[in-house]
Amino acid sequence: MVDLKTSLLELAQQVLASSKIISDHLEKNSLPPLSLVADAYPFFPGTGPLDVDVFPRLDENIRNARTQLRDAAVALQQLAAGPAEAAWDFMTGHFTSATLQYVYHFHIAEHVPVDKDISYKELADTAGVDQSQCTRILKFMATQNFFQQTRPGYIGHTAMSKLLLVPDFRDTVGYVTEESFSGAPRLSENAEKYPGSQEKNQAPWHLANNTDLPIFEYFEDQPARMGRFMGCMRALASAESYSIKNMIEAFDWQSLGNGVVVDVGGSFGHCSSQIAESAPGLKFIVQDLQKVVNQAEKERANDKNIDRIKFQAHNFFTPQPVKEADVYLLRFICHDYSDKYASQILGHLAAAMGPESRIIIVDSVLPEVGVLSKFEEQRARILDMEMMMTYNSLERDEDGWQSLLKQADPRLELRSVKKIPGNILAVLEVGLRHSN
Ligand SMILES: C[S@@+](CC[C@H](N)C(=O)[O-])C[C@H]1O[C@@H](n2cnc3c(N)ncnc32)[C@H](O)[C@@H]1O
Repeated sequence: MVDLKTSLLELAQQVLASSKIISDHLEKNSLPPLSLVADAYPFFPGTGPLDVDVFPRLDENIRNARTQLRDAAVALQQLAAGPAEAAWDFMTGHFTSATLQYVYHFHIAEHVPVDKDISYKELADTAGVDQSQCTRILKFMATQNFFQQTRPGYIGHTAMSKLLLVPDFRDTVGYVTEESFSGAPRLSENAEKYPGSQEKNQAPWHLANNTDLPIFEYFEDQPARMGRFMGCMRALASAESYSIKNMIEAFDWQSLGNGVVVDVGGSFGHCSSQIAESAPGLKFIVQDLQKVVNQAEKERANDKNIDRIKFQAHNFFTPQPVKEADVYLLRFICHDYSDKYASQILGHLAAAMGPESRIIIVDSVLPEVGVLSKFEEQRARILDMEMMMTYNSLERDEDGWQSLLKQADPRLELRSVKKIPGNILAVLEVGLRHSN
């Protein structure tokens, strides 16, 4: 446990103890050593997307050691810096976002060979950018191991910069540095203009993008930005914190037999497709906006479970056409909206539910401060900030969920909240209260 009173030496001991647990674990299981060199395994061994994850999943002991190491290492770094310099580090995060945006925009990573270094000059020439500016940016980024200077005048990849060559990761960088980052500088102006707003078109992002359209409606006529958002969703779903695998394990999908799951706002059907793998009897209806459905049908045409997955255009702010489904799945949907709008989505589902239907919500449940480690809590609160900047919405704590359900339909009852271990998400099971 790390708090503001933990001393320098205690922190150092915690770093040593948790590092020892981790390195023993790696050695005992013949796993690769932790590394950021360009050809390193891109995830902590035992984590990562299911199709890339070739190592056994982490057990709780190792997860805790990693979390403790991260918390202690950050505190140690801040103590070593002293308050003024630590505050300076806190202040200058926007340079990281801006330089990453530059690298994304000019496809710099794609012009760096994967197996050797390249001179700054040749890189700038092939990427078609100003050499001096590009060099300064890359040297700055290399101070945080995003690229590395291999010898004077030459730059190469690290394991972090190489991730930009993975399409979904690249989309994530694009979304974060071009959508999310665009709204951030307008936060105070937005708060002045729309204090306490619940409107889905009044986020800082809307000021930056000069639009009155809610983001997903805006994206409908911007297929490239919509596609990028989808890539970001897929990348998140494959990352450790948001892994779909955790959602599959947290609910007994097989118990639904050959029932029907409606994946509301289900995007390209990536969640349904993975649930289908583990529950062979289930059928899925993936609902989304018309243009997303059009793209999704093309993208999923060769999915091996496609005979059990149908796509349907449906606006979730209108009455739900599929009645009495076994499960209505809402993954990453409610957190996109304030209570005013999230309650409309849930209200339409409540009206369509039969007595045995359930709504399964997969979203964050914010903990009380201090329940999680600082690292885990920060992960949850980053998402809350993203919701604020881009969607004018929020992440909810358990009371927030209870009051949302009540506002949507007083018959809705929160039956269970399953926290996913090592994960900031939870699976909330909601049913209709039986009236006696
Ligand atoms: C944050 S994404 C979540 C996607 C998916 N459920 C997941 O977990 O990755 C939100 C999805 O809701 C869809 N969406 C937005 N507005 C919608 C609306 N009014 N009706 C139906 N779907 C909508 C978006 O197109 C997008 O696919």
